[in-house]
Amino acid sequence: MKAILLATIGMTLAAGAEAEPSSKVAWTPAVLDFVKKGDADRGKALSAPCAGCHDGTGTNPNLNGQLPTYLYRQLQDYKNGNRQDPATIMNAMASALSDQDMADLAAWYGKQPPMLGAGGAADATGIAERGEGRRMEPACSSCHGAAGQGEKVDTPRLAGQSAAYLEATLLAYKSGRRANDIYSRMRLIAGKLSDAEIRQLADYYAKLK
Ligand code: HEC
Ligand code: HEC
Repeated sequence: MKAILLATIGMTLAAGAEAEPSSKVAWTPAVLDFVKKGDADRGKALSAPCAGCHDGTGTNPNLNGQLPTYLYRQLQDYKNGNRQDPATIMNAMASALSDQDMADLAAWYGKQPPMLGAGGAADATGIAERGEGRRMEPACSSCHGAAGQGEKVDTPRLAGQSAAYLEATLLAYKSGRRANDIYSRMRLIAGKLSDAEIRQLADYYAKLK
């Protein structure tokens, strides 16, 4: 049964590779079910080498309470090179992980209490809550949720994330260096923001509870 499931995933990945989309993970019911059944206890054991970095300080993203499907897809994208970590650490880390390892790690991090900001955030740009018609910029909250909590299937949680990481990754979408977002959505959105707005939005989401 397990072999069949993994073969199905392999076929999904291979089929995606022909069309060269921005991510090779296709959310078929089989893949969704596979990620949902990740073994958090096994993920905990596997997370030991990750803990030193993933404390949410500086440009190290916090993974606690993040959507498992989002985490799984990012790990797959690092492994197949669709997402490039500038320091290449994550590409090396992910290349050693199997599909099962990724599902288990995603389950473990997804079960942790979500990252929390200090509170008192105001959206200085107005874009997070309202968007901006003139630039045809959608409200960030329309996808990431009113409280920055993230939404199914793989729109990540932003609330409480490290401000330095949020800023760095938005700048990477803006320059096109991070290019694994499906339909270029985040590249188009970040491309219309000034660097100052990116800093303000990073600060806003980092402080959201
Ligand atoms: C030496 C430090 C280091 C180690 C060890 C490390 N990471 Fe990372 N990780 C990073 C950095 C830095 C980034 C952001 C890279 C980028 O900009 O793409 C990252 C990004 C990620 C992301 C994407 C998060 C997001 O919000 O998009 C995931 C998922 C992840 N790491 C999981 C893991 C797992 C699982 C392990 C252990 C198997 C691990 N990492 C080990 C430093 C590390
Ligand atoms: C149309 C839906 C949509 C809108 C609107 C949107 N996002 Fe996103 N965002 C996504 C999706 C989907 C992803 C995951 C993309 C990927 O895999 O790279 C994402 C990823 C991100 C990430 C990466 C998080 C991480 O952990 O690495 C950040 C930061 C982000 N968005 C910020 C914003 C901000 C700020 C706005 C408003 C200016 C915004 N988003 C508007 C859908 C959206």
